[in-house]
Amino acid sequence: MLGLFVLLSILVGSTYQYEVTSFYDLISKTRNWTHCCNDPFVPQHILDQAEHNTNLCFERFPNNLLCFDHCWMRLFGILDRRERFVKSALLEYLGKDVVLGDENDWKKNVTERFVSECLAELTNSTGFCNSDSRRMGVCYWKKMFEACPVELNGGTCNF
Ligand SMILES: *[C@@H]1O[C@H](CO)[C@@H](O)[C@H](O)[C@H]1NC(C)=O
Ligand SMILES: *[C@@H]1O[C@H](CO)[C@@H](O)[C@H](O)[C@H]1NC(C)=O
Ligand SMILES: *[C@@H]1O[C@H](CO)[C@@H](O)[C@H](O)[C@H]1NC(C)=O
Repeated sequence: MLGLFVLLSILVGSTYQYEVTSFYDLISKTRNWTHCCNDPFVPQHILDQAEHNTNLCFERFPNNLLCFDHCWMRLFGILDRRERFVKSALLEYLGKDVVLGDENDWKKNVTERFVSECLAELTNSTGFCNSDSRRMGVCYWKKMFEACPVELNGGTCNF
């Protein structure tokens, strides 16, 4: 009996606990990135879809970050049949005409460049739960938060 408890506590103790550990977690789970950049990025309908995706994918993959992220990106319809990113689909969410702000807004100047730079850093692996979804999200949001003007808390976020 004691042996069983020891075994159980080892199993429970080593179970992955969900933590916010990356820029992407901020975006996909807490939705609160005000301390990294206090600026609205995308229209409400995209945030609503993000929340929907978060709830669904967290239910499906509570303990697997790579699968969670992949699921999340997939529900946005930005991956092809082989699970690789489709740039034109991605720009429907992050294109300069989609991100919020007037025409001189800082985000409009950088978003498409960051998308291209981050796509170029991917492994282009195929198959579900490959690491490119996480890589893409972290890459893009890290660049965004670094480019965010200081008066909007830009460049202050530490992880
Ligand atoms: C977001 O985070 C900031 C700083 O951590 C906090 O002050 C604010 O209350 C949070 N907002 C929401 C809506 O949770
Ligand atoms: C856009 O980026 C270019 C090159 O990085 C820079 O010269 C220009 O000042 C930027 N424009 C705005 C509005 O930030
Ligand atoms: C992945 O594809 C992008 C184009 O979307 C390319 O720039 C990049 O070099 C590719 N990466 C690898 C490792 O092949």
